[in-house]
Amino acid sequence: MSTDRRFPKGFFWGAGTSSHQVEGYTRNDWTSWEKQTAQERAQESAARFSHIPQWSRLKKEASDPQNYISNAACDHYHRFEEDFDIARSLHHNAHRFSIEWSRIEPQEGMFSETEIEHYRQVLCALKQRGITPFVTLWHFTLPVWLANEGGISSHRFPSCFKQYSEKIAQTLGKEIPFWITLNEPDVYASYAYRKGEWPPQKKDIFSYLRVIRNLIEAHKKSYAIIKRLVPDAQIGIAKHQVAFEMACDTSINRILKAVAHYLWNRWFLDRIRNHQDFIGLNHYNRNVIDNGLGKNPNERVTDFGWEFYPESIYQALIELKPYKKPIYITENGLADASDTLRQEFIPRALTAIHKAITDGADVRGYLHWSLLDNSELARGFYLRFGLVEIDYATKKRTVRQSALDYAQVCKNNALTM
Ligand code: BGC
Repeated sequence: MSTDRRFPKGFFWGAGTSSHQVEGYTRNDWTSWEKQTAQERAQESAARFSHIPQWSRLKKEASDPQNYISNAACDHYHRFEEDFDIARSLHHNAHRFSIEWSRIEPQEGMFSETEIEHYRQVLCALKQRGITPFVTLWHFTLPVWLANEGGISSHRFPSCFKQYSEKIAQTLGKEIPFWITLNEPDVYASYAYRKGEWPPQKKDIFSYLRVIRNLIEAHKKSYAIIKRLVPDAQIGIAKHQVAFEMACDTSINRILKAVAHYLWNRWFLDRIRNHQDFIGLNHYNRNVIDNGLGKNPNERVTDFGWEFYPESIYQALIELKPYKKPIYITENGLADASDTLRQEFIPRALTAIHKAITDGADVRGYLHWSLLDNSELARGFYLRFGLVEIDYATKKRTVRQSALDYAQVCKNNALTM
C-alpha cells in the first residue's frame, strides 16, 4: 500500500534567508555592535552551551570572537544568482529573503536607487528561475540613523517604517506577490528590550511594551500603504509560535498553559487580525510546562541546545486555525552541522504538517530555514541552519544530503515514505 502524502495543488516549497545573516557587508545597527561584543559573546559561549553533547565539536569555533562578526557572511549579495541556481536545482518554487533597510535608506529620506536596483535584480533572478518571492521588509536590522534616534522604541518608528514600505511598494511592488512586513516582532522585542541580549541590549519593561506597540502600529501603516499601492499584494507577518504543552494535567498547568499561549502566541496576532491576508508561521520549539518550570524531555538536542522534536509544528498549525487565514510556514529548521538530525527532521516535520492539513489547517507553503548556513543572530557562524553548507573561507557552497532528500518532496509535491 502506498503511503505517499500528497500536498495541496500549487503548494509553495522552498527556503528562506535574511539580509544581514547572508548578504555580507551590511552597515546597520548590528554591524558595529557585533564587533564591540564579539569577545564577550565568545567568552560566554561555554557557560551557555557546554552542557550539550555536541560541545566538543563546536567549542573551537564558538570560542573564537571572529565567529561573531558577520563581515562578508555568505557574500550572498554578490552570489545570489549562484544561490538561486542551487534553489532551482533543488526544485524550490518559492524563496523568502529580506530587503536590507539600511541599504535602501542609508540616511533618513535619502533612498538609494542603486540598492533598489540591486533588489530588482534579485527579484528578476528569482522570476527567471520560476521561483515565487516572499519578501520580508524588516528582519531585525535598522539603519544606523534610526537606531541612533531610539530605533523601534522611538515614537517616529511607525511613520519611518511606513515611508520605507511605501518606497519599496512604489519601486518594486509589482514584482512582489507576498509581503512579510515584520519578522518575529515579539522575539525581537524580548531579546532586544527585555532580556538585553540583542542590540540595543535594554532590560526595561516599559521600553519593551512601547516597542511592541510601535511594531503593531508600524505593521498596520505598512499594510495599508502597500495595499493602496499594490492592491493584489498578499501581506502578513512572520510570527514565532511556541507549542505549549503540559507535563501533566493539573489545574495550575492548565492555567499556565493558557496564559503562556495567550501572551506569546495570540496577543500580537489578535491586534493585527484585520490587517493581514495570511499568517507566516515561524516555528522551532515546544515548551513543556510543569508548575511554572520548563520540562522538555530534551532526549536529543540540536547544536543550539534546542529540543529535537519536529512534531511540535502540528500543534502550532492547529492553534492558528481560528484565524481563518491561509498559513505559509515561513521558518522551520534546526542548527545541525552534522546534517544527520536535519535528514530526520524534515520528513518528520512534513508528516506533521500533512496531518495538520488533513485536520483542517489551511497550509499553503513550507519555507525551510535556511537555504544557506548563515550568521546566526548574536551567535555567529558556528550554528549551521543551512540546506546548503558554506565554507566561509572560500565561500564554496555544498548541498547537504537533507537538501537532496527535501528536493524530492518539492519535485513530487508529496512525501514518499
Ligand atoms: C529568526 C532567524 C534565525 C532563526 C534561528 C528566527 O528566530 O527569524 O533569523 O536565524 O530563528 O534562530
